[in-house]
Amino acid sequence: MSFTVPFSQPGLQHDPQWYRRAIFYEVMVGAFADSDSDGVGDFQGLIGKLDYLEWLGVDALWLPPFYASPLLDGGYDVADYRSVLPDYGTLDDFRELVTQAHQRNMRIVIDLVVNHTSDQHEWFQQSRTDPHGPYGDYYVWSDTDDLWPDIRIIFSDTEESNWAFDSERRQFYFHRFFSHQPDLNYGNPAVHQEIFDVARYWLDMGVDGFRLDAVPYLYESDEGLGESEPETHDFIRSLRAMMDTDYPGKVLIAEANQRPHEVAEYFGTTEAPECHMAFDFPVMPRVFYALRSQQVASLVDVLSETTEIPHGATWAVFLRNHDELTLEMVSDEERQALYGWYAYDPRMRINEGIRRRLATLLDNSRHELELAKALLLALPGAPFLYYGDEIAMGDNIWLNDRDASRTPMQWTPDRNAGFSTADPGKLYLPVVQSLGYHYSSVNVETALAQSRSFLHFVRQLIHVRRAHPVLGVGDFEMASTPNESVLAFVRTQSSEQCRPGESPQTMLCVFSFAHHPTTATITLGARHAGARLRDVFGGGSFPGVGENAQVTLTMGTQGFYWLAVE
Ligand code: BGC
Repeated sequence: MSFTVPFSQPGLQHDPQWYRRAIFYEVMVGAFADSDSDGVGDFQGLIGKLDYLEWLGVDALWLPPFYASPLLDGGYDVADYRSVLPDYGTLDDFRELVTQAHQRNMRIVIDLVVNHTSDQHEWFQQSRTDPHGPYGDYYVWSDTDDLWPDIRIIFSDTEESNWAFDSERRQFYFHRFFSHQPDLNYGNPAVHQEIFDVARYWLDMGVDGFRLDAVPYLYESDEGLGESEPETHDFIRSLRAMMDTDYPGKVLIAEANQRPHEVAEYFGTTEAPECHMAFDFPVMPRVFYALRSQQVASLVDVLSETTEIPHGATWAVFLRNHDELTLEMVSDEERQALYGWYAYDPRMRINEGIRRRLATLLDNSRHELELAKALLLALPGAPFLYYGDEIAMGDNIWLNDRDASRTPMQWTPDRNAGFSTADPGKLYLPVVQSLGYHYSSVNVETALAQSRSFLHFVRQLIHVRRAHPVLGVGDFEMASTPNESVLAFVRTQSSEQCRPGESPQTMLCVFSFAHHPTTATITLGARHAGARLRDVFGGGSFPGVGENAQVTLTMGTQGFYWLAVE
């Protein structure tokens, strides 16, 4: 497979706000491409696929942890923050990946697992054996397991308590996730210093930013229930200040699974900034809710709530990632409905969520896949795509935990889907062979050969979005319609949001969640009265906006429009 990349530009382009226009792509190193036939993906394999990612239109990669780890939590159980897992290659391979990505003007964002380490980490081993030594206070120890009883358990399927007993130190240690992942003690300034040093280590190696993993949980208290405590925000502010001073242009992305106004706190303020971006957890499940209920009210509510954020900050929007589709941020009623629609087999559920991929969740409905992607790329914020979703890859619910949707990328109809030439039994996880999603038909090569494939659709969407920076940097304003199945909003770019040579754009985005054709009368802001509307895919003219600032549009089943307002 070869990819012609017409817009290739050598070297990183300077833009301190690059993340606002970027398309991000989450790729697990071990899952993408195996260059040395050991059954596990690696840095060299990923380097070999950069042409594909550039062709697709990706601006930045997010790599989940690739550090030394016992891999009991997909690498989020870090045993050494400064070395890479030998299966993935060497530090030199990682440096080469950064260099080669940068040559393509593609950025690399990595995970900084700040809340906890693996119990195999040297700090923990020292801490448990030598309570009075230099690492004695690196973790949260207690003689009893009854502190902070109301702090909720996140991995509720596997853990019964946030405390575990260590037989060596004969004390309990606190853990928000698996019991093999002890929480670091942020009450100890030495821990702050360590994490700063780790951040500097990777920034010096050229990475463009960090996803701050599980960032709300750094501190614990009874009043704050161990989430978003004020000291947690103090820590992020100081990390941001260090990066702004010493590494300008590098970004921090908060992983905070919270309500909109709480997530927004992770941006800080213009004067005292925290993260540049934060994952928009509340929006994502409501997209899935709207797809089945044909009702957009809850999506409209949550989008209306999340618009006020400091200048320069932006949302990280996503539909799926390497974790379960989490349902923590919806009402009990919505959660029950979502389980009923999307996780009718108990094996599909995990903790408070659903462990399936985008294509299987949407039953491979092309209408729904297109609608969901088009919405993702038009929402305020930078879209994060999950590897494989661009070819509507399936999952494997017979695998454990979240491995269901972490199977090898499917490149060709050949052995191991072209991911690896290893003995199939040696792969870190089997390739998907289920009905309807078998790798012999669902793979990049086959999708490339079909001009109307979902892959080509996704690429076109990405390229149209890139040509319309209003969807990256523009302001967001809801447009009203009495049609309960239709979501409409206007994105507006001001001249301050333009790069030199760009003219401000305005875009009306309309999405129908109705399962049949429908008509919607949409009311825009008064300043758009009399405007012309033009479809940005085909260039076709649409009925103009009336003098009353209204327009009536007819939409096909689960259809959408991106219309330039001129
Ligand atoms: C990561 C998960 C991981 C957890 C504990 C999360 O936020 O996304 O994959 O299991 O942190 O490290």
